[in-house]
Amino acid sequence: MHSPSFPATRLRRTRSAAWSRALVAETILTPSDLIWPLFVTEGKGIEEPISTLPGVSRWSVDLLADRAREARDLGIPCIALFPNTPAALRDDRGSEALNPDNLMCRAIRAAKEAAPEVGLLTDVALDPYTADGHDGVTDDKGYVLNDETSKLLVEQALVQADAGADIVAPSDMMDGRVGAIRAALEQASHSNVQIMAYAAKYASAFYGPFRDAVGSRGLLKGDKKSYQMDPANAIEALREVALDIAEGADHVMVKPGLPYLDIIRRVKERFDVPVFAYQVSGEFAMIEAAAAAGAGDRDALVLETLMAFKRAGCAGILTYHAPVAARLIRAG
Ligand code: PBG
Repeated sequence: MHSPSFPATRLRRTRSAAWSRALVAETILTPSDLIWPLFVTEGKGIEEPISTLPGVSRWSVDLLADRAREARDLGIPCIALFPNTPAALRDDRGSEALNPDNLMCRAIRAAKEAAPEVGLLTDVALDPYTADGHDGVTDDKGYVLNDETSKLLVEQALVQADAGADIVAPSDMMDGRVGAIRAALEQASHSNVQIMAYAAKYASAFYGPFRDAVGSRGLLKGDKKSYQMDPANAIEALREVALDIAEGADHVMVKPGLPYLDIIRRVKERFDVPVFAYQVSGEFAMIEAAAAAGAGDRDALVLETLMAFKRAGCAGILTYHAPVAARLIRAG
């Protein structure tokens, strides 16, 4: 089949008015596509701005409850929680992660109580709890031990599910942990707790501001290349996704976001599961820096990048711009 040529075909015709552009839009972005990551800190009535994430703060548990209500009011279906564990509670094994009354669990309970209709996603990994900022326990050479870490992650996921998490999201990249977590959740009568696997998570330079937010940047010894993926690889990402689905993941995530749209597209084409992207902290910071430098309009940059994720095949996007984007979308 060949397309009719000019002037029978003028692709600018349907672009000529807003109503017509709306009519032919192939992709839509709504607040229900967004997951809002939020940072939690100890104390009461506390908002701590994060300098490398302008406009993003850590909230004490009482104020986090207000953010949960805000998400509900904006039509954001799910929030993701990340704790800034007090330094004194961090140790070699990330023990505080298993404390049912830790900051994370208190935050889960408060958010659930404030806005029960908002889904709660919790990160399963030890980096906000370990003294060296790694996602797992290390041997004496600093190598993150897979199976030993996986056992702790299972416990951590159960503690979070008991506190009220709706989706547990292992972000650690240990082999086999999705299956182990799924089996433990089933055994513990948490069969409706979902798993969103950080399936293709790359060892990225875009995580810096996040590590400031959870207080692990200064602590981190070495890098995470022995567990997070090499940015050079795409076929390996498909293998990671296949494994996590086989082990029981309900959703898979690609992370970071924009530099990895090709991976999102390939995962979407190959597998029939919801695919999510994490537009990570360094991506957020780049947009804010561009806007602050007068290089682009912040609101337009936010909406364009989020639309790009939808077009690439995402069911949803984790983004620190979630409340900004939801307001913009609602304002039309
Ligand atoms: C920890 C985790 C990280 C992020 C989410 N969970 C950082 C890391 O792996 O070092 C990054 C998110 C962001 O940069 O916004 N397992």
